[in-house]
Amino acid sequence: MSRPRILSGIQPTGIPHLGNYFGMMRPAIEMQASGDAYYFIADLHALTTVRDAAVLRRNVQAVAVDFLACGLDPSQCTFFRQSDVPEVTELTWILSTLTPMGLLERCHSFKDKIARGLSASHGLFSYPVLMAADILIYDSHLVPVGQDQKQHIEVTRDIAVKFNETYGGNFLRLPEPVIRENVATLPGLDGRKMSKSYNNTIEPFAEEKILRKRIMSITTDSTPLEEPKPIEGSTILALYRAVAPPADVAEMERQFCEGGTGYGEFKQRLFEAVVKFFRPMRERRAELIADREGVEAILKKGAAQARETARGVLMRVRDAVGL
Ligand code: ADP
Ligand code: TRP
Repeated sequence: MSRPRILSGIQPTGIPHLGNYFGMMRPAIEMQASGDAYYFIADLHALTTVRDAAVLRRNVQAVAVDFLACGLDPSQCTFFRQSDVPEVTELTWILSTLTPMGLLERCHSFKDKIARGLSASHGLFSYPVLMAADILIYDSHLVPVGQDQKQHIEVTRDIAVKFNETYGGNFLRLPEPVIRENVATLPGLDGRKMSKSYNNTIEPFAEEKILRKRIMSITTDSTPLEEPKPIEGSTILALYRAVAPPADVAEMERQFCEGGTGYGEFKQRLFEAVVKFFRPMRERRAELIADREGVEAILKKGAAQARETARGVLMRVRDAVGL
């Protein structure tokens, strides 16, 4: 396998935050040169939770612009919107007809979402079949995902095996997950995992005034200024490690242990480090925002390329099932 097809998707369910950047976007950008990478914005998946057209459009734009600003290079990879490749929904249906109910009933992600209060729509339930179609329709070899998505890749493989066995041939390629295990889970403002569902996110491209306010609102303990502060479990330090050079991190750790510096000052330094880390990307982002048509053209070009691959696989599948 000289140039493996790498495929991954991100749901446009919010404005990208620091957790998304370090947990998904940066690893994807780092992998874009190691194969024939296909990255897409999973807007069809987002429909299972986003119910406002304007919000969905805003999020898709934000993900596209932020991903490109952060270094996704459309000359190295294929970047597109999921819904611009309608073939994927046709494959979803065909796969649905042989996906056992039990396979979907076992999915943690569905159970977790119901436990969080989302209504149990058919789309939410069959979400892994759409994800399987996303992966299988591009003959993907490798699928980089977070640990939480590992089960969905297993489901994808099960569905592919079932299809191949049912129709007697190697029609669908079995993908391998690439689990991002060395990527730390970033804590949010309240110390829990940074997640838009906890409303504890830091959006690196927010206006600087707002960004500063967010960072200043990080929850800290009540250790008096002059006393040493605990390093273990510190949200400020966890975030600082992601954005600051190692020497600066060591210095902040030393000052935590020494005492005499207040949390306010540490937060100010964290704010400055976030701004510095994202400055070149922020500038690039401003250019992209001023060139909406250019961004749209990138997504359209990516979709045309992706569609060509998708059509080939779908033809194979249609033929196998007798359509
Ligand atoms: P959210 O929790 O805000 O809803 P998603 O579940 O949509 O975020 O995550 C999109 C991607 O970003 C996933 O690949 C996930 O692994 C990554 N990610 C999200 N939050 C974090 C975090 N706090 N730390 C590291 N990675 C994260
Ligand atoms: N379900 C993934 C998530 O929530 C997003 C996604 C949709 C995806 N289709 C995919 C990821 C195909 C990898 C491959 O993060």
